[in-house]
Amino acid sequence: MTDCVFVPKEFDLAEGRVAASPDSVKKMKALGLDVVVEAGAGLRSRILDADFEAAGARIGSAADGAAADVILKVRRPVKSEIAGYRSGATVIATMDPYGNDEAVAAMAEAGLSAFAMELMPRITRAQSMDVLSSQANLAGYQSVIDAAYEFDRAMPMMMTAAGTVPAARIFVMGAGVAGLQAIATARRLGAVVSATDVRPAAKEQVASLGAKFIAVEDEEFKAAETAGGYAKEMSKEYQARQAELVAAHIAKQDIVITTALIPGRPAPRLVTRQMLASMRAGSIAVDLAVERGGNVEGAIAGEIVEVEGVRVIGHLNVAGRIAASASLLYAKNLVTFLETMVDKEKKALSLDLEDELVKATLLTHAGAVVHPNFGAVSREIA
Ligand code: NAI
Repeated sequence: MTDCVFVPKEFDLAEGRVAASPDSVKKMKALGLDVVVEAGAGLRSRILDADFEAAGARIGSAADGAAADVILKVRRPVKSEIAGYRSGATVIATMDPYGNDEAVAAMAEAGLSAFAMELMPRITRAQSMDVLSSQANLAGYQSVIDAAYEFDRAMPMMMTAAGTVPAARIFVMGAGVAGLQAIATARRLGAVVSATDVRPAAKEQVASLGAKFIAVEDEEFKAAETAGGYAKEMSKEYQARQAELVAAHIAKQDIVITTALIPGRPAPRLVTRQMLASMRAGSIAVDLAVERGGNVEGAIAGEIVEVEGVRVIGHLNVAGRIAASASLLYAKNLVTFLETMVDKEKKALSLDLEDELVKATLLTHAGAVVHPNFGAVSREIA
């Protein structure tokens, strides 16, 4: 029998994104799947029910989750949502599994096959399924827009009859996907941009975007990248030398945007109160790592606070602040992954547990937590 895909309205009121788009619905229909979208699910991403309908979806209610074979979500389902899904159903979402073992175990107990999109391996085959990249890119863009909005000076240099307005100086810390887009966006707005990262590969990328690279480039720096292309946690000595260099640089900046993350670890603390105090009044700091512990001392998740005269922006879910764009990319990531798992003749999902994408992302299956990184709690319960 044809499998049915259900796309609910996100439970969390702070989430404006949706896990499908008219395009992704069309793709799913072309795969032979039935698609039901909860009424109003796309509204905050500017997708009307009629748009989903025109693409071939049926508009339904939360109750349609009960009959679904596949549920596509932005965020991990909460208890009440899980209770509404049938055992054996597949849920694909950003699951935020680290530190949430109990929530992962609850999905196992409910018999769900739960996939965590953020665990997608960063290999060529999976590039179009990489939600971390698609969403971080938009977050990087939005971080500059948010900074510009709070900043009470201009970004570009302006030479006018009434005098010259100097260009804003923006320092981007962490030049991964989000950071590189922040650099590009800040450059487009006319700011003078510099950036730092602990991965040597970032140096060239920063330079190619027209920004200045600032870092202690010793032997440790030259060896600081993992095989997966991620940052390693740096030694205390390196961090101290880097902090000294950065402190002198930050004192001359108008805006600091931090994006530094180390997979599976708390975000490194890069900007201290002292550094903030050295900036001139009216400066801005945007902490994109605030949900993972924060790069900026004093940053508060979900708030804009004044720390030592600097406005520190700690917005949550920054990609969700441009939900309409973010949903389109997220939906494409999801449907591309789903496509790899659909048996086109049977018009149904057929999981290949040996597939490397499945192995990397499948958290729970057949009543158990199956991912090697998240097993402890479920074994205790059993
Ligand atoms: P991320 O979100 O984990 O971290 C953001 C950035 O912070 C990274 O560039 C990291 O090096 C940097 N960072 C960590 N600690 C720092 C510190 N103490 N000081 C300064 N910077 C620090 O990383 P993201 O953006 O997800 O990607 C990192 C890299 O992964 C990319 O630049 C790329 O090389 C690789 N990648 C590969 C993809 C693929 O499909 N092959 C797709 C996307 C990224």
